[in-house]
Amino acid sequence: VADLLIVGTGLMGTSVALAVRDERDVVLRDATPDRVSAAVARGAGRAWDGRERCSHVLLATPPAVLAAELLRLQRDGVGRTYGHLCSVQAGVQAEVEAVGADAASLCGSHPLAGSERSGPEAASAELFAGRPWVLCPSALTGGPALAAAGDLAAACGAEVVRLTAEQHDETVALVSHLPQVAASAVAARLLMHPAASGLAGPGLRDTTRVAASDPALWTDVLALNAAQVGPLVQLLADDLAELARALRVLAGAGARPSAAARGVVTDLLARGRSGRSLVPVKRGEHDRDFVRLAVRVPDRPGQLAGLLVSAAQAGINVEDVRVEHLPGRPTGVIELLVQRGGRDPLARALQGDGWDVVPTTL
Ligand SMILES: NC(=O)c1ccc[n+]([C@@H]2O[C@H](COP(=O)([O-])OP(=O)(O)OC[C@H]3O[C@@H](n4cnc5c(N)ncnc54)[C@H](O)[C@@H]3O)[C@@H](O)[C@H]2O)c1
Repeated sequence: VADLLIVGTGLMGTSVALAVRDERDVVLRDATPDRVSAAVARGAGRAWDGRERCSHVLLATPPAVLAAELLRLQRDGVGRTYGHLCSVQAGVQAEVEAVGADAASLCGSHPLAGSERSGPEAASAELFAGRPWVLCPSALTGGPALAAAGDLAAACGAEVVRLTAEQHDETVALVSHLPQVAASAVAARLLMHPAASGLAGPGLRDTTRVAASDPALWTDVLALNAAQVGPLVQLLADDLAELARALRVLAGAGARPSAAARGVVTDLLARGRSGRSLVPVKRGEHDRDFVRLAVRVPDRPGQLAGLLVSAAQAGINVEDVRVEHLPGRPTGVIELLVQRGGRDPLARALQGDGWDVVPTTL
């Protein structure tokens, strides 16, 4: 009997396997055999022979195939308990019950960690470290399934949170599914004028990062959570329609700027700024707690490492790093985010070590 069978050795499944492989005997299965080979090659576990019994089975497949896959595994008596990681919970719970699978041995959960990349190559043992991992037991979930799901999340280094499926779906609609829609809608506009993207800066990269996600997987997610996401998309569309009306007024206003129209624009930007201040940078900390220090560096290997060594020698903790390559230029800019009191000492220390600190950030 293996400790853990992972079905679906993509980004998520392989990351879980890599995180627990030292403590657990992990076996792996995927509908695409190459994906199992890739996960095995990364040391995630061994290939499942299709017969071995397992204490716990984690379904890390796309949500659309989950209920059918669960039913098949349960009929074969493969696992004692089952879990899944779907980004949407209530719809999956309903489907599991509709196909007649045993809901008592299943506990749904959702790690709030991930990437716009997919597949075992993108997996990482560290993906879940310090991240929230929401357990969503249904009314039918039994104690052993809940305990097994919680143990696995904790073994991956995540912080375990418990919500109902409905609370979960409402929350992720706002913090994950709406941002995906907004990023995709902005990125889709770039197709109007592909050459313009050559001038893109970090703002465009940051706002469109998740637009690189897999459309098929996200279609499943949005369809499963349509009842929660739809009204939020409508509210966003209302905000944008009002903004578009105000901008039309401003475009035609000429020398008579309309205070009301400007007010609409400022209101959206100000509400956006307030909302952004709620977004954690690290858990419990916010962007406003950090200040930036920009350093110009030659665009060649080793610069970032050298900079971090200088910062460490100055005894200053770097909270985050952003690297800006300037296309066609031999230099780039590295931005270091540090605690407010740390910037001036860091700037002095870096200048002392010969780094080209950008003066406007001093
Ligand atoms: N990617 C994220 O950021 C993220 C975050 C949280 C939760 N999730 C959830 O995790 C799950 C997996 O997502 P992922 O990002 O790892 O996707 P992925 O595409 O990297 O991996 C999914 C794997 O499932 C396999 N698969 C498909 N149908 C199968 C079947 N019938 N039997 C066995 N294997 C099958 C695919 O071949 C693929 O290897 C999804 O339910 C998703 O909602 C993803």
